[in-house]
Amino acid sequence: MARPAIVLIGFMGAGKTTGARMFASALGTRVVDSDKRIEKRLGCSIAEYFAREGEAAFRRVEEEVAGTLLERADGGVIALGGGTVGSERVRRALERHTVVLLQVSRATAWKRAKRSDRPLARDRRAFDRLFAERETLYESVADVLLPEVDRQKLKPAVPVIARA
Ligand code: S3P
Repeated sequence: MARPAIVLIGFMGAGKTTGARMFASALGTRVVDSDKRIEKRLGCSIAEYFAREGEAAFRRVEEEVAGTLLERADGGVIALGGGTVGSERVRRALERHTVVLLQVSRATAWKRAKRSDRPLARDRRAFDRLFAERETLYESVADVLLPEVDRQKLKPAVPVIARA
């Protein structure tokens, strides 16, 4: 039987890509980033595709690519795009994996995400609304919650096991 993967989820700017690389290197295993897979499939950037085809079309591709990736995964570390858990197929596929939620404050998420070319990080209000909408969704699928480290206060992150 295929082994579970460690799957990093969380909002834009939570640090999923970086975190996934760190987990993978510590465990000596491979890492897959679902957004990169999607861009490979699309042959263009997510931002370009969003602008040309719209969000609904993007979500269909995202569900297909991430769903297949999670259904076939045998070990390893996977970073998912922030909106991927909105899909029921993806949530079903996540059930056999170990899902780690990288928590991030709204302020940090905005500061990081606005620097990049993310189509859903252009308008602060819409970004904040999305953040609030997604919070419980992320928590509902997570096995482990990893709080954001406050570097200023040097407060260590304490992982919380949400589902034994
Ligand atoms: C999105 C997050 C992005 C990317 C797309 C949509 C979202 O990935 O998939 O722009 O809906 O939250 P990151 O979470 O890696 O930024």
